[in-house]
Amino acid sequence: MKTRKYLLPLVAIIGMAFMGSCSSSKKTASTSTTPERHFSAAELEEGKTIMEASCKRCHKLYAAESHTPSQWNKILPRMNKRAKLNEEQAAKVRGYIMSIAQK
Ligand code: HEC
Repeated sequence: MKTRKYLLPLVAIIGMAFMGSCSSSKKTASTSTTPERHFSAAELEEGKTIMEASCKRCHKLYAAESHTPSQWNKILPRMNKRAKLNEEQAAKVRGYIMSIAQK
């Protein structure tokens, strides 16, 4: 039973080595999914119209204020697919929501 004494520090050292190698590669991907873009008032209005037309088929129309921007960032990719929005429509809906949902 003496071997157990040596096993613990060994596991700790290996564990630390793995954690060190992982953390550096984690940060790069997260920001690239939300390209910021300027929307004109007309485009925001269009986003609102698209949302009102496409997003109440399966449930009530959620207001832009109903969720925070970080919640919307998780919800919208799922819902855009469900509503079958193209990239341009999805961008305008997102622009409209974010113009209102700030904070
Ligand atoms: C084909 C049906 C369908 C369409 C179209 C649809 N949704 Fe949804 N939505 C769902 C379902 C099912 C849920 C509940 C399960 C879930 O959260 O995935 C939901 C949930 C939600 C929620 C609540 C999520 C939460 O976690 O609080 C929001 C907000 C939302 N949808 C917004 C939208 C918006 C915006 C659109 C238009 C771009 C949209 N939905 C279009 C089916 C749909």
